[in-house]
Amino acid sequence: MHPLTVLLNLKSRMRVFHNASCAEGSACPLIIEDHVLAMHEVSSWPGYRATPLWSLTAIAKAAGIGCLWYKDEGARFTLKSFKALGGSYAIVRLLQSVVAQKTGCVPTSDELRKGSHAGITREITVTTATDGNHGRAVAWAAQMFGCQCVIYVPKACTPWREHAIAAYGANVVRTNLGYDETSLLCAREAKESNRLVVCDSSWPGYTEIPTQIMNGYTVMAEEILQQLPPDQPLTHVFVQGGVGALAGAISAHFTNRVGTMSPAVIVVEPEGAACLYASARAGKAVAAPEPVHTIMAGLECGEVSTVAWEILRHQTIAFATVPDAVVAPTMCLLATPIDSDPKIVAGESAVAGLAALLMSSDDKALRESLRLDSSSRVLVIGSEGNTDPGIYDGIVGREPV
Ligand SMILES: Cc1ncc(COP(=O)(O)O)c(C=O)c1O
Repeated sequence: MHPLTVLLNLKSRMRVFHNASCAEGSACPLIIEDHVLAMHEVSSWPGYRATPLWSLTAIAKAAGIGCLWYKDEGARFTLKSFKALGGSYAIVRLLQSVVAQKTGCVPTSDELRKGSHAGITREITVTTATDGNHGRAVAWAAQMFGCQCVIYVPKACTPWREHAIAAYGANVVRTNLGYDETSLLCAREAKESNRLVVCDSSWPGYTEIPTQIMNGYTVMAEEILQQLPPDQPLTHVFVQGGVGALAGAISAHFTNRVGTMSPAVIVVEPEGAACLYASARAGKAVAAPEPVHTIMAGLECGEVSTVAWEILRHQTIAFATVPDAVVAPTMCLLATPIDSDPKIVAGESAVAGLAALLMSSDDKALRESLRLDSSSRVLVIGSEGNTDPGIYDGIVGREPV
């Protein structure tokens, strides 16, 4: 059966919550000046280039919309996911601040990379819990900018992803726990061992580093604005949610940059890990129902990031969930495109947004409620490439090209 048909057959399993609190307005915790600093910083790193923004004409036609853009983060540095923009950026800011406290001067990231303050930075240990991508970014940055790193991985993290983190010199601690419990362990041991937690989620009292991480993600959002044809602004973004930092950063940046012209945001989560959906329904931040599980490893989160939630609760028109069964057909559709669309290697956490768009394509009432029509210009975020080639092979049936 064609992947598109499989997705349409799964439509009844998609849940959509239309958010009545959308556009009620609130102060945005991400400010444009911080984005400018992040863009200036990240674009100075060796190997930086904007990732591709593909136009998927044939899929757009099949979905009954005007055009479809796919931001392909599989090409992000050598890390293959957008996460390379966030934890790494926060680490630079953290090391700069510690060095400045000790020397009175703020070093550039170039100086940090060249080891000018290695005597200070080698004494600093950063730490986080991760399902893979965020930990890889933190380990990469710790090695690049010269500090120590301890990364905690939950029991579900694949050996390939664990080794990819260790390859950057990180000390990897594998736990026998789920992601949320692993995060608690990481935080507890950080306190005991004087490590600095670089977590991509936030909670009351822990917002500064997660906000810097989201500032790092705005680099991707700005690239998109630069890459789009100026006379064709986006009307919609379907973006997948884990703790919500990715969706929150994109949404905030578009609002900051294009104001009332910013696209409608639809957040899509796996049905087995839908903390943002649950929070939208509850009207306040709540945890996802237990047990939290999905094959979309990067989205397997039971609790929202409070900084992201404060953005998304006002800026998201709808919160949706999709079953894990959408992953294989959507990855296959991208790997074996229709007509002249480009061939795209997408990891399992990359496709929820596209799947939800396609599943709504023949539902008249849903399209109307999401204001989707034949003139819509929709963005989806391909947030990772083949971050685990074994998993990719197992799902798509062949090695990624
Ligand atoms: C590939 C990928 N996509 C999306 C996400 C979700 O991002 P967030 O947790 O900020 O919502 C993650 C998180 O790890 C990820 O690794």
